[in-house]
Amino acid sequence: MNKIPDSQILVIFGASGDLTHRKLIPALFELFERKLLPAKFLIVGVARTRQNTEEFRQSLLDSMIQNRTTYAIDNPHLTDFLRSVYYIVCDTTRSEAYEALFREIEQLRNAAGIDDNLLFYLATPPIMYPTIASSIEARHQNRSAEGWRRIIIEKPYGSNEAEARALDRLLCAIFPEREIYRIDHFLGKETVQNLLVLRFANSIWEPLWNRNYIDHIEITATETLGVEQRGLYYDSAGALRDMVQSHLLQIMAFIAMEPPATFEPEAIRDEIAKVFRSLRPLSPDDIARHTLRGQYATGTVDGQKVPAYRDEPRVDPQSTTETFAALKLYIDNWRWADVPIYIYTGKRLAEKRSEVVIHFRNTPRTFFPGQCCGNSCNQLVITLQPDESIRLRFGLKQPGTNFEVSQVSMDFFYSSLIETRLPGAYERLLLDAMRGDSLLYSRSDALELSWHFLAPLLESWERDGDEGLITYPAGCKIPREVVDRILPDPCLLEENACTLCNTRRP
Ligand code: BG6
Repeated sequence: MNKIPDSQILVIFGASGDLTHRKLIPALFELFERKLLPAKFLIVGVARTRQNTEEFRQSLLDSMIQNRTTYAIDNPHLTDFLRSVYYIVCDTTRSEAYEALFREIEQLRNAAGIDDNLLFYLATPPIMYPTIASSIEARHQNRSAEGWRRIIIEKPYGSNEAEARALDRLLCAIFPEREIYRIDHFLGKETVQNLLVLRFANSIWEPLWNRNYIDHIEITATETLGVEQRGLYYDSAGALRDMVQSHLLQIMAFIAMEPPATFEPEAIRDEIAKVFRSLRPLSPDDIARHTLRGQYATGTVDGQKVPAYRDEPRVDPQSTTETFAALKLYIDNWRWADVPIYIYTGKRLAEKRSEVVIHFRNTPRTFFPGQCCGNSCNQLVITLQPDESIRLRFGLKQPGTNFEVSQVSMDFFYSSLIETRLPGAYERLLLDAMRGDSLLYSRSDALELSWHFLAPLLESWERDGDEGLITYPAGCKIPREVVDRILPDPCLLEENACTLCNTRRP
């Protein structure tokens, strides 16, 4: 059911930045087109850049056209939509600036007859989170007697366990936990949400969904993009923080969690936290044998020659930050004991693809050896993007005079459910926060537990610097070492594999 949110103002801090232009405003326009925004609704962009509301609207329009986010310049609705957007210049580093800011917001709110509901979106560099949150509190804008206050925090949510905890302590002293929305945009993807429906709307999987029938699980996200203009941030983060700590561990939790008591946010978040609590701690031996990090060298992606990571803008030329991370982990609970879970992700690889592959165990005795992919004929391949699909693979007899087995696949493509495009992740997440639904947002305990799990690996990689860091040519399918050292059964990769790339140490 499409519940329309309360009337409200969305206040975006960091509004002159890329995220606002490329993701937030286009997503809000889509919601507007789908008539999912409240009738009384304003977007107030806040940033230091000196410009007025008209100029801000024009820059949003230019960016939407330039990024070709589906909108024609003559779309009459676009002009209507932009009428609800305002801009306030504010140096958010100065606490005295907030008095005027909130005065102006109040004026806009009264003029538009909007209830006292403010949703703050922090699209600023993370270093600004504490200042903005504390300044909101200093102006008594963290609570309202007549309405509500909510705050959305972009990732990275801290860069290690201690920082995440400190940020949490600060935010939780200002806003109630239920009003803090820690965004992980992967959870806004239709196909990621579908993992919950696939598992909990069907009874056929549950009997198989455990260590008795599942041999191992692969969770991967490869990208063709490099670090673009985000060198400064990325060089201090790396693939483990940027993709594994947030997106891929969350996907793992959706795959591994127990059925919740109800389909309510807290019940689901309880189960997610339980998964993280059951992660087997990474020992030094696990780190040495079951993890791998790499960095891209110059190469060719989509026919274009691209620079090495170390030559990217705002990246340290001596950087040892990983742009590729692979690890094998275990969830020590009754359902998953001893089932390896392989996670890998990397930038500047041959294709953009996010996928979960459930590898089922082989039959107890093998009558037809070597005919299927790897050890077993059965995999459930859930492609989260780009060609969103679910494929169940199994072996069948190849017509002929021998018992030759062909591996076939029963395929479902999302495109058969919907004629238009799938709604974008930010559309769903913004709408949920506007409606007060936190199901697809991370809870503080889960975040801290995921940081806690990765802490030994982060420390070890930081300590080791160049040592153990492999270099892969941009555009390769997957570094050879992952197949040699980490994955037990890389047949799905090899099947369509252009090349496994040869790597070297820098
Ligand atoms: C972001 C990361 O969270 O996710 C980026 O910071 C990454 O580095 C991006 O490119 C991938 O998201 P998507 O939706 O394009 O797969």
